[in-house]
Amino acid sequence: MSETKVYEIDPKAIDEEILKVPAKVLKNGGTVAFPTETVYGLGANALDEKAVKKIFQAKGRPSDNPLIVHISKIEEIIPLVKEIPENAKKLMGKFWPGPITIILKRSHRIPDVITAGLDTVAIRMPSHPIANKLIEKSQVPVAAPSANLSGKPSPTKAEHVIHDLKGKVDVIISGGSCDVGLESTVVDMTGEWPMILRPGGITKEDLEEIFEKVEVDKAIEEGNRDLIPKSPGMKYTHYSPKAEVVIVEGNIEETVKEIQKLKKEKEKIGLRVGILCTDETKVLYEEGVVISMGSRKEVTTIANNLFAALRLFDEKDVDRIYAESIDRKFLGHAVMNRMIKAAGYNVIKLGR
Ligand code: TXA
Ligand code: MG
Repeated sequence: MSETKVYEIDPKAIDEEILKVPAKVLKNGGTVAFPTETVYGLGANALDEKAVKKIFQAKGRPSDNPLIVHISKIEEIIPLVKEIPENAKKLMGKFWPGPITIILKRSHRIPDVITAGLDTVAIRMPSHPIANKLIEKSQVPVAAPSANLSGKPSPTKAEHVIHDLKGKVDVIISGGSCDVGLESTVVDMTGEWPMILRPGGITKEDLEEIFEKVEVDKAIEEGNRDLIPKSPGMKYTHYSPKAEVVIVEGNIEETVKEIQKLKKEKEKIGLRVGILCTDETKVLYEEGVVISMGSRKEVTTIANNLFAALRLFDEKDVDRIYAESIDRKFLGHAVMNRMIKAAGYNVIKLGR
């Protein structure tokens, strides 16, 4: 592919004339990267097999990893799935539009290239005004994975998308930062109870407010890395900066001490070390490439900054990254899920 057009659109004052152009590109089989409330997505017409294949090609994505289909109104789900169970209706009513994707039995209209041959399809209705308007104007359901090169951290700012995909897609819409900063929660709604296949913006605790029981795919719980995840994408290495990431987990004083010690050791043998920490601990590390994800009191800020921080280490050319762990409560569960994947399960547990 040759030229990528970049359009700047203000999400608070959307210029509908400009938005018409990428909407038409989508409808006519092209690829468009756009902001959502979770991360930037790379979209194509979900009903056009040739268009969807361009997504896989631009990202270098394995073809056995299915895509999420995005819609702009709840009723647009009807032709895409076989049936909508009561629990799915309840979930959509409460959390759509928003950062949650549901898995249901697919209808015959969904091409195989979307589902990687599964008999289910993932559907999401994003709340970001640009995403919502773009899908509406394109008049087609929009298949969209995160708009990063496969394996890299998901993009939370337009500059990340431009870095990864300029020259590989038709259009990039630059529309500011993403609110959540982590990909949507993926929930299988084909069973009796919701089952979380990927933790994300809507937490297990949020779901428990409306469902008596909420299950979690055992394969995504730590310590079960030998099980095969029900969501194909969860089996791949992900979110990897160039440098090796190691997570240090323990009480905060021990963690800081251990990271300080490891940093000295590695620097002695000539490695450049990066530290991923929090506002509360930042001052405790001597100079070097020290990046804070935000305050431990605000897990939403930490979620928002994680991927950008991982990408920043690439620019700083570090050889090794030591990362503090955070509490696995609420959104902290999704944050630690992404961090552990970025680290390839490399976690040093202290004090046990
Ligand atoms: O927040 C998000 O979900 C973003 C924005 C752009 O909407 N999209 C995103 O897409 O994260 P992607 O492709 O990076 O991740 C989709 C995940 C993958 O783990 C994939 O395996 C899973 O959803 N998935 C898709 N269809 C599935 C299905 N039928 N059954 C189980 N998992 C499925
Ligand atoms: Mg992705």
